[in-house]
Amino acid sequence: MQTRILRALRIHEGYLSGEEISRALNISRAAIWKYMDHLRALGYEIEAFPHRGYRFVSAPDKLLPFEVQHGLGTRKFGCDVHHFESVASTMDEAFRLALEGYPEGTVVVAESQTKGRGRMGRHWSSPKGRGIYFSLILRPGIPPSQASLLTLAAAVALSEAIETVVPQAQARIKWPNDLLVGGKKLCGILTELRAETDRVQFVVVGVGINVNNTAPQLLPEATSLRAETGVSWPRLLIFQQVLRTFEKIYMAFLRHGPGAVLEGWKARSATLGCRVRFTERGVAFVGVAEALADDGGLMVRLPDGKLVKRVAGDVLL
Ligand code: BTN
Repeated sequence: MQTRILRALRIHEGYLSGEEISRALNISRAAIWKYMDHLRALGYEIEAFPHRGYRFVSAPDKLLPFEVQHGLGTRKFGCDVHHFESVASTMDEAFRLALEGYPEGTVVVAESQTKGRGRMGRHWSSPKGRGIYFSLILRPGIPPSQASLLTLAAAVALSEAIETVVPQAQARIKWPNDLLVGGKKLCGILTELRAETDRVQFVVVGVGINVNNTAPQLLPEATSLRAETGVSWPRLLIFQQVLRTFEKIYMAFLRHGPGAVLEGWKARSATLGCRVRFTERGVAFVGVAEALADDGGLMVRLPDGKLVKRVAGDVLL
């Protein structure tokens, strides 16, 4: 009902009387007051003028479900949005919803996280209202061996979406899926899944984007869109564009296979052609990142001419 009131207020220019709302939505005037109070508590500015009614003034700078879905235009991604002011990690909430059977495209988004996590047990700093922190449920029905391609798909989508909204930020992908601007980390992607031996049951893709974080909120090796451009950016527009672009790339992957994802990744790579360093079973290697394998692994040419495939972990550029 709250969503319907909000929609009515937004499409109506000027004042909408309590009587009109009451008639159109078949609710009492007392119920309208209650909903208006609730919307104001969420941060919506709604003006009330005696004998004229209510007028929508502004929405809060929050990734609230109604705002995210307004004008989104996707088929599945964002079909159901669960919003938290603060949560330990959106990964845990999304995993719980996935186990309960929530459909593909369900999103959990938070204004802040108290235990945001990154790959390989790292912490993901999630200051309130500064970044975008969300997890998305996917049910691709692919074999577990292909799941890492979804992470690459997410990286391509993020790079493309950020470039659309913030053209001056050329985010490039460091294998496997960190997004860098000027050599510093802008976004991270974490994929967790539940699978049977031959089939993925569901995947939760978690994304953290540093949008309006200022220098004291960033580690020396991290950056934000604000730090790069000197101005603040609307998180809502970026989030919507990420959902749209990711859905487009994901659907193409399911329909036509991984070709476009691999090509998109190569075109946006910050890794191919670079000298990389990595450690495997305690042994350090240095080589040149030569190619991306069809399963998403990184092919590295070692100084002795041998070509090795790195399938998991990280590399240092
Ligand atoms: C990484 O680069 O190590 C991955 C970082 C992933 C962070 C996001 S923020 C939203 C979601 N919830 C988490 O706890 N982690 C992911």
